[in-house]
Amino acid sequence: MEWQVNPTSGPQATKPKAASDYVDGQRLWQRHLDMARLGATGNGGVRRLALTAEDNEARGLLATWAANRNFDVSMDAIGNVFVRREGTDSHAAPVLTGSHLDSQPTGGKFDGTYGVLAALEALEAIDTAGFKTRRPIEVVSWTNEEGCRFVPGCTGSLVYRTPADLQRYLVIKDVEGISLGDAVRAAHAALPTIRQRPLGGPVWAFVEAHIEQGPELERQAKTIGAVTGIQGTRRFEITVHGEDAHAGTTPRRARKDALSAAVAMVAALEQLFYDKEDTVRFTVGRFEVWPNAPSVVPGKVFFTIDFRHPDDAVLTSLGDQVASICETNRKNSTVDVKQVIRTPPIKFPERIVAAVELAAQRLGLPTMRIASGAAHDAQNLFHLAPTGMIFVPCEKGISHNERENAQQADLTAGARVLADVILDLANE
Ligand code: GLV
Ligand code: MN
Ligand code: MN
Repeated sequence: MEWQVNPTSGPQATKPKAASDYVDGQRLWQRHLDMARLGATGNGGVRRLALTAEDNEARGLLATWAANRNFDVSMDAIGNVFVRREGTDSHAAPVLTGSHLDSQPTGGKFDGTYGVLAALEALEAIDTAGFKTRRPIEVVSWTNEEGCRFVPGCTGSLVYRTPADLQRYLVIKDVEGISLGDAVRAAHAALPTIRQRPLGGPVWAFVEAHIEQGPELERQAKTIGAVTGIQGTRRFEITVHGEDAHAGTTPRRARKDALSAAVAMVAALEQLFYDKEDTVRFTVGRFEVWPNAPSVVPGKVFFTIDFRHPDDAVLTSLGDQVASICETNRKNSTVDVKQVIRTPPIKFPERIVAAVELAAQRLGLPTMRIASGAAHDAQNLFHLAPTGMIFVPCEKGISHNERENAQQADLTAGARVLADVILDLANE
């Protein structure tokens, strides 16, 4: 590894300097505040749905910061944005690091954004320190991680993983009928100075920093989580078809009440998914009723099931009962059950988990190993290259909520660990 003393910044070099010494926590914090203005909700949170004007502004702001440093900025055919610092071997597969800038409808300032900004901060730290790396390093912001505008989520990293599937994803439409393809075209048109790049490519390693989105680090007074893996997910879409009818004149016996059937289904599913240990994650997060009028018997209901578990056998045994439970409780409506996502649980390679742990320990940071309950783009990169994640605490574990909060010192610590980890990986 080459390094040179930069007398104008960083500590006096009596020991070999580290990239982490050059992380600027105040700049990192200020950038969170600047990003949070894009799609600010007024309650301290953000609404920055994928590929909306707000999300494209976020792409533009990231590109501006990167261009100010003379890093190369590019965007691919699914809207993923890359910020590249060249290596001494420009043909070597790059180390990737990043997360996402899109948010949930009532999201917080840190989910995803932290991973992108920590990655940019780490890259700037490496650059300021004057390290040359053998491999290029690329900061990436993946498109539509949250999956609330276009289903499924983690779309950018999914397509990066299998570029041949691009067309299949570009035709997905949001609730207003706008296709993902049209939204990506609009992003390119809104950001003409960002050059286009080919989709996909080799990856040497991927490391994603993220707030934990759960309470464990805070509860155990740890600053860094070396993430061991991500639990699996199954997502279902259920449509119940009944018949619109007059609320005043139609007797119960003659009704095909889709809402009454859907409520029975959800009640039965809640019983099925109940576990004393509280490991199962079962959520009905979207529930829509048609025509949604007080004096009309509901003729149609749509709802989603998000089911997660660390054990694939449980994902199979419980998830495979969803269709029959819905069928048993459909009363005299009909029901259509569609599985739209199935992601197996994954375990990150030990060498990346250990590298995160060691880097944190070297910095004297309280550290623990931790599994991820939330989904992340890392679960797609996992299939391409050695992958891992770094968690930092968030207040009371609150996330997917405008009140999501994190401490500046913890965000800085995570970026310092990230800088040291990616510098080592980029010299392999
Ligand atoms: C991503 O935010 C998820 O649903 O876990
Ligand atoms: Mn996220
Ligand atoms: Mn999220």
